[in-house]
Amino acid sequence: MSVFGRNRLTTVVLLIPVFSFLFLGRAKGQTQWAEALIERKIDSLLALMTLEEKLGQLNQLAARGDWVAGEKGITEEQKQMVRRGEVGSFLNATGAKTLKEIQRIAVEESRLKIPLIFAYDVIHGFRTIFPIPLGEAATWNPELIEKASRVAAIEASAAGLHWTFAPMVDIARDPRWGRIAEGAGEDPYLGSTMSAARVRGFQGEGLGKVGTLLACAKHFAAYGGAEAGRDYNTVDISERTLRTIYLPPFKAAVDAGVGSFMSAFNEIAGMPSTASAFLFTKVLRDEWKFTGIVVSDWTAVMELTRHGVAATQGEAGVLALRAGVDIDMESKIYVTDLPHLVRQGKLSIDVVDRAVRRVLRMKYRLGLFDDPYRFNDPDREKAVTLTADHRALARTVGAQSLVLLKNENRILPLSKNLKTIAVLGPLATSKRDPIGSWGAVGRAEEVVTVLEGVRNKVASGTKILHAAGCSIDSLDRRGFEEARRLAEQSDVVLIVIGESHRMSGEASSRTHIGLPGVQEEFVREIAKTGKPMVVVLMNGRPLTMPWVYENVPAILVTWFAGTEAGNAIADVLFGDVTPGGKLPVTFPRSLGQVPIYYNHKNTGRPASDQDFFTSKYLDSPVTPQFPFGYGLSYTKFVYSDLKVGTEKIRSTDSLRVSVRVKNDGDGKGDEVVQLYIQDLVASVTRPVKELRRFRRITLNPGEIKTVEFTLGYDDLAFYNQEMKFVVEPGTFKVFVGGNSVDVLEKTFEVVER
Ligand code: BGC
Repeated sequence: MSVFGRNRLTTVVLLIPVFSFLFLGRAKGQTQWAEALIERKIDSLLALMTLEEKLGQLNQLAARGDWVAGEKGITEEQKQMVRRGEVGSFLNATGAKTLKEIQRIAVEESRLKIPLIFAYDVIHGFRTIFPIPLGEAATWNPELIEKASRVAAIEASAAGLHWTFAPMVDIARDPRWGRIAEGAGEDPYLGSTMSAARVRGFQGEGLGKVGTLLACAKHFAAYGGAEAGRDYNTVDISERTLRTIYLPPFKAAVDAGVGSFMSAFNEIAGMPSTASAFLFTKVLRDEWKFTGIVVSDWTAVMELTRHGVAATQGEAGVLALRAGVDIDMESKIYVTDLPHLVRQGKLSIDVVDRAVRRVLRMKYRLGLFDDPYRFNDPDREKAVTLTADHRALARTVGAQSLVLLKNENRILPLSKNLKTIAVLGPLATSKRDPIGSWGAVGRAEEVVTVLEGVRNKVASGTKILHAAGCSIDSLDRRGFEEARRLAEQSDVVLIVIGESHRMSGEASSRTHIGLPGVQEEFVREIAKTGKPMVVVLMNGRPLTMPWVYENVPAILVTWFAGTEAGNAIADVLFGDVTPGGKLPVTFPRSLGQVPIYYNHKNTGRPASDQDFFTSKYLDSPVTPQFPFGYGLSYTKFVYSDLKVGTEKIRSTDSLRVSVRVKNDGDGKGDEVVQLYIQDLVASVTRPVKELRRFRRITLNPGEIKTVEFTLGYDDLAFYNQEMKFVVEPGTFKVFVGGNSVDVLEKTFEVVER
């Protein structure tokens, strides 16, 4: 190269940072300029709006129109409200055509032509249904869950929707609570990872982009802490527990850019969430710098009167709006009661304007002012809905979500060439149950049942016999006999049992979390045949069924695995996929142990067989049936060589931790490598273990991988007595293993700076 050439190259190389600086500077400048322009437009709109029109933007209604051709529209009365500017958003209306028409009324027939936002509960899929969120969490595979949420957003946005009321990121430590099915389980770190993955998946490259949905972190906050596991019930927890256990997944959603939040139905220590300025102003806006919108839960503003913190609906509205709840879902209080309270000077117009500005800003961010129909496309709706790719992804997620609890004598995987298989149990042919709670527009007829999945899998010569044997929850035993007869004729028996999809989800708490009806009796009856037996469990929560856990040789937890449930389950049963899911929640031995969670405190008297006066039960071990993080594989993983980068670190340093994992069996498989820490002595008590990292890896037979993790300040920090987030010097333990109990451990020291 000539000197000249080299010089030119050098010049170019030197100029790159300058140009990129200028470019980036310009890009940033442009964004700021665009944002300022939006604020100016909002100023002008606000100046034009009547008080009623302003409050209309804060009013969200549920579509009440009849379903026509599979789409749900709005009523005549609701259309009139849209024309008068009294509605800012709808939930539950569906279908590209219908939504287009409703939007047309807003942007052509209302005075200010402000577009509407359309919301829907797209919780675990829209038409292609993925496993329930608890099942998705059992994959411990955030990249995969991000993809699943992306697919949900692509389908739902093509159908004209803009906003999903997901992810639900409530931590749940009580399996009686039916909504445990909707979240990621008991752990704040796993919950945070899933929360962020879902937000990224729904919101994609950015809210204005086609194929994206505005995500909503709900229910803020601590809804899962309901006393006695009864839905909507009182929550009374310390601020430390709130910040340590319940808030992290919400913060993770904010960090991932979530655009909206939903208030919760419950109170926390005397303050209903929907009236909590602590939550919505102090924590969310001031501490976390959240700039999006906040919606109440369904009629939660009105419910403030029932909580007894507001004497009238008007007072309830004032409390909620002042606390920072921008949008009133379904109470209609903001539009009916607030106008005169503002006129009487009981509520400042600034509070109203602040909320309206946020809503309008969101409409700009969603691109609705540029093109109110932009996400809505009936052709695209057809083209991108329930595609083969989407189904394939649902099958992968389904298979990865399954957790193998037991596999004695290596009954599983089954051969595809068995002569006869009996597929028994009330859920074997269920098409609706695998959709689980919040099925969006998923259709039962599109679901692959377990029976169908097994049929699809086995050789043509394999005979498959089926009988339900019993129903999910009746006491009718008349089907036992036939089922028993079929079992006797078979080489292996699959029994598909568990809960119906209605037994978990909202308002679906249970005081008995065993198998409903006579299902356990049915399993015992079939067990008498002595045939090799596999229980395939469908469940929206941990179930207590000690006899089954004790006596049935193989048990597979399948949650509600979605549209491709049957195929995904058959993939695992017949060994095309080796199970690698792990429990995102502890399975108790009995309800009496509840709440039971792995990250508990030590107490002053940790359970000991040597000492009577310790924290335990007279009639049960303290340990769970299956611990958090637990799940078997068809192969075997061996952990060794746990190493910490250095034994002494300063709190600001990061720490490398590595471990060798070997696939010591004869098949390829996935393992979720889990890392926990314990702060041994601190100024406030700390849990015995806290999950801090995990990675799902795939290993071929004989393959060894060294898995490395890096821990930093935030991983070691906790809220001290002054509620400051600090790391204190002292000894820590780090544990690594394939579940929260079977772990290797090392210690390290945090020293003063
Ligand atoms: C639920 C929310 C849901 C809302 C709208 C409420 O009953 O608690 O999770 O988003 O309804 O359907």
